[in-house]
Amino acid sequence: MTIDTLLLGQTLSYATDPFSDGPDAARHATHGGVLLHEGRIAAVGQADTLRAAHPQARVVDYGDGLIMAGFVDAHVHYPQTAIIASWGKRLIDWLNTYTFPEETRFHDPAYATEVAGRYLDLTLAHGTTTVVSYCTIHPTSVDAFFSAAQARGQRVVAGKTCMDRNAPDTLRDTAQSAYDDSKALLEKWHGRDRLSYAITPRFSPTSTPEQLSALGALWAEHPDCLMQTHLSEQLDEIAWVKSLFPEARDYLDTYESHGLLGANGLYGHAIHLDPRERDRLRDVGAALIHCPTSNTFIGSGLFDMAGMIAAGQRVGLATDTGGGSSFSMLRTMAAAYEIGQLRHAPLHAAQLLWLATVGSARALRMQDQIGNLAPGMEADLIVLDLASTPAIAQRTARATDIWEAIFPTIMMGDDRAIAATWVNGTAIPR
Ligand code: GUN
Ligand code: ZN
Repeated sequence: MTIDTLLLGQTLSYATDPFSDGPDAARHATHGGVLLHEGRIAAVGQADTLRAAHPQARVVDYGDGLIMAGFVDAHVHYPQTAIIASWGKRLIDWLNTYTFPEETRFHDPAYATEVAGRYLDLTLAHGTTTVVSYCTIHPTSVDAFFSAAQARGQRVVAGKTCMDRNAPDTLRDTAQSAYDDSKALLEKWHGRDRLSYAITPRFSPTSTPEQLSALGALWAEHPDCLMQTHLSEQLDEIAWVKSLFPEARDYLDTYESHGLLGANGLYGHAIHLDPRERDRLRDVGAALIHCPTSNTFIGSGLFDMAGMIAAGQRVGLATDTGGGSSFSMLRTMAAAYEIGQLRHAPLHAAQLLWLATVGSARALRMQDQIGNLAPGMEADLIVLDLASTPAIAQRTARATDIWEAIFPTIMMGDDRAIAATWVNGTAIPR
């Protein structure tokens, strides 16, 4: 018989959606507990009640630490780990100058393995338990990533990035090889342990219509897979798409007309959308992935979070490492808050934390498995230290409620605020 584990501390979970119900959507306990049984959450409740009901459980007492779901980062590029924070370029120049040369290095399986492990260790230390990652065009970059996540027991989503034009020779596949390699990787990894495959055309400028069609056909053969791509991130990019696809109604149509628009689609950025694009994305139930540190760092624009949510779009939150300037979902929430302020629509702390957990899990259609504390959910948890630095502690000391106690950590916290990370019911050694 396995011994259950009882984590004690403050607890935070969501009963409903804070964009509809405000902060009351959250459940907070000052002296709470989470019971773990064989990699899942068995119970969430008051510390005393759980202790009395489960006297044999091994107790881990986090004191004032705030136990909540691990962060879900819905759009990253793990191969860009080593070029994060590269100076001075906007999207297309940034890709050509920094990204493509680095991604070329992933033809070497040893390098891919090294960076995949480094990336997952860095993000776990920042409290991120699930990521959705682009790999490079090299199938070995996908094997390296899934193997590293599997060794850590993580639920991750990833796919081979497909590009058959407007990229260096060393980073181009073809319509046929993109289909064949993606299919082989999907069959190898999708549904194995906690791993899921995402069909991954990088974005319309780097795929011919033939490649987009081939990947659309693959998605039709495997509709339960996610499909991830980029959409309407920067104005220059949109103009380029128009010139490459003169017959398309708009940027989204370059995906839609090739079978790449659907309910299991994740569309990164989606900042500059026309009304038709917005309506179609909402009608099919696609997910928009907001990447706020990337949007300010690369100079892309200000995502209309309030407008999108009010219009009924599904939205997830992401770092977009390494176009994004951080591995931290705390820093990412802070940037989403700042963009909200510039749009005169600041997000509440309850909404920011929801986006980084439940919201992103919903975007991945994994809200029944990850992203919240509830019986039956997988035990991917973090413990936040709400006084992790002197600067944060002196502000938190003035807090009159839980949201005022959490907000300084959202705005000023980093990996020092992550007191513990649990994956699949096991604490990550640190
Ligand atoms: N658009 C196409 N590729 C990329 C990428 O790697 N990062 C970002 N931010 N945008 C992209
Ligand atoms: Zn991206």
